[in-house]
Amino acid sequence: MRVGVLTGGGDCPGLNAVIRAVVRTGAAEAGYEFIGFRDGWRGPLEGDTIPLDVQAVRGILPRGGTILGSSRTNPLAESAAEGGRSGIERIKDNLASLGVDALIAIGGEDTLGVANHLHEAGTHVVGVPKTIDNDLSATDYTFGFDTAVNIAMEAIDRLHTTAESHHRALIVEVMGRSAGWIALHAGVAGGANVILIPEQPFDIEQVCAWVEHRFQTKYAAIVVASEGAHPKASDESTSDQRLDAFGHVRLGGVGQMLADEIERRTGKEARAAVLGHIQRGGTPTAFDRVLATRFGVHAIRAVEAGKFGTMVALRGTDIISVPLGEATSVLKVVPPERYAEAEIFFG
Ligand code: F6P
Repeated sequence: MRVGVLTGGGDCPGLNAVIRAVVRTGAAEAGYEFIGFRDGWRGPLEGDTIPLDVQAVRGILPRGGTILGSSRTNPLAESAAEGGRSGIERIKDNLASLGVDALIAIGGEDTLGVANHLHEAGTHVVGVPKTIDNDLSATDYTFGFDTAVNIAMEAIDRLHTTAESHHRALIVEVMGRSAGWIALHAGVAGGANVILIPEQPFDIEQVCAWVEHRFQTKYAAIVVASEGAHPKASDESTSDQRLDAFGHVRLGGVGQMLADEIERRTGKEARAAVLGHIQRGGTPTAFDRVLATRFGVHAIRAVEAGKFGTMVALRGTDIISVPLGEATSVLKVVPPERYAEAEIFFG
């Protein structure tokens, strides 16, 4: 049995831990052979591979990124140009000529959406959920999220002390395209004075009122904003309008926009700090290493059991299998009651 492995979409801490667990478990329990595909769906689309065996995964558990590389290549957007074959057909042909019996796709909503199309086209696929955004509804947590939250929390802790020294408002922009989980968790853990998320469009006057209230007692304020947060008056997040292959705009800029408005309206000096890809880099936390390892072990067990067209998922403390279609259909957003809990501490 030969199993292909790929990592697609934005990278996140814990990808290497999954790859290691897949290879080690498959080799030990079933004597499987492995083949790595480079750069997400580009690998199987172009037949670009990398050797993958137990030796290749030694020492990678604590390393961030992915030894396989990643990309946002979208085979569904590939026209049937080359010899009249669609992206899905080209992948199927390449898997067949490489002797790949099953494919493990590690990715978020977009990568797993393609995996589901391949499954419907008859390929043996198992998915592993990954995203720092933690916005896949079929799993309680994705690995990478805990690391991103801890990095953002540490940044907030540091920003508190410099904000207090200079009596400034500091706005921290964190990742989170459509779901505000990173902002919510990092903001609560870091004692932010205001948390702004995409699910709860903000009123800039209310934000300024919270900032001013904070200045009355502490002479400084910390605002944490998801990159996808936007004012009530507009449905649009701040972006530069460039699209990726899955049609997502490149977000960013809400932190500076908030700093400008807060300074103009309150007269308090305000600065923005954008954490950006720092949240996705470096070594995973213990929680993410354990979750990623368990996902890898169970992904191979799903292959062994012939549970194709499924994704491994965390439910409570158990790892279960859910249909890929279910895994990619609904985005998990922050419910209003969770935001209301955080709001108690605003101002
Ligand atoms: O999907 C995860 C994510 O980190 C989002 O939070 C963010 O909007 C996006 O990726 C950034 O993507 P890129 O690395 O392509 O700029």
